[in-house]
Amino acid sequence: MLHPVRGANTELPLLSSGNLNSYPYSGITERMSWENQYIQMVKTKPGIIVAENDRESPIQSKAMIDEQRVRFDGCYVEIGSGSGMHLLKLAEQNPSILCIGLEIRFKRAFKTGEKAERLGLTNVLVLRTDARCIKELFNDGEVAGFFVNYPDPWDKRRWLKNRILNDEMISTMHRLLRPGGFLRYKTDHQEYFSSTLEMVRAPEWDVVKRSTDLLNSPWMHQNIATEFEYLFKSQSKPLCLLEAVKLA
Ligand SMILES: C[S@@+](CC[C@H](N)C(=O)[O-])C[C@H]1O[C@@H](n2cnc3c(N)ncnc32)[C@H](O)[C@@H]1O
Repeated sequence: MLHPVRGANTELPLLSSGNLNSYPYSGITERMSWENQYIQMVKTKPGIIVAENDRESPIQSKAMIDEQRVRFDGCYVEIGSGSGMHLLKLAEQNPSILCIGLEIRFKRAFKTGEKAERLGLTNVLVLRTDARCIKELFNDGEVAGFFVNYPDPWDKRRWLKNRILNDEMISTMHRLLRPGGFLRYKTDHQEYFSSTLEMVRAPEWDVVKRSTDLLNSPWMHQNIATEFEYLFKSQSKPLCLLEAVKLA
């Protein structure tokens, strides 16, 4: 069985062969030398997947969210939604909520859109984009819940700046959440868990769920598993869960 690979970003878009291009949000600089077929494939599902050039503001994505959002009671946003296992289940369980996945890899975004289509889900939107641009995508107070599942831990000291969850991101999420909205976070990385816990403090946040042993916690019955969660379970790694609610 092929397991998901964490860390290596093997799907950066081809801009022009042999040039060095940098990505403003991710700070990734990569020599482009091969064609990624999924760059074209994501364009075949315009009703579900929006993929735009990372060097520009996410104008199309914002327009798509604004257009779709009015049909629903609210929106959930999953950051780094991978191949969509969690996002699609969430959408199935919450038909009145628009479930939006932000995924930087073209192939994973495409797979998610493809599966959503096959399942006939009409409340899913996949944005092939860098999640660090959320403040350009959502209005203050419009998000009902953020989900961050097993983000890359970047645990070497010199890589810590690449973590998706940092003080700036947490405060942006707080601003975008509606009162009573929540951030639900899962990780297999104990230190990333503790440092995130430090960031969701009163009076802005109320931590309502917290476990360093998710599989044996009282919240397991409502847990939606992810691709990486299956991998970590097979390695008998302890999994952590944190849910913090925005205090008005
Ligand atoms: C370790 S994987 C976890 C995938 C999925 N959440 C799961 O639990 O199976 C991290 C995911 O985040 C995506 N990712 C990493 N940095 C990102 C960013 N800045 N914006 C959007 N997605 C990102 C990766 O491409 C990858 O799919």
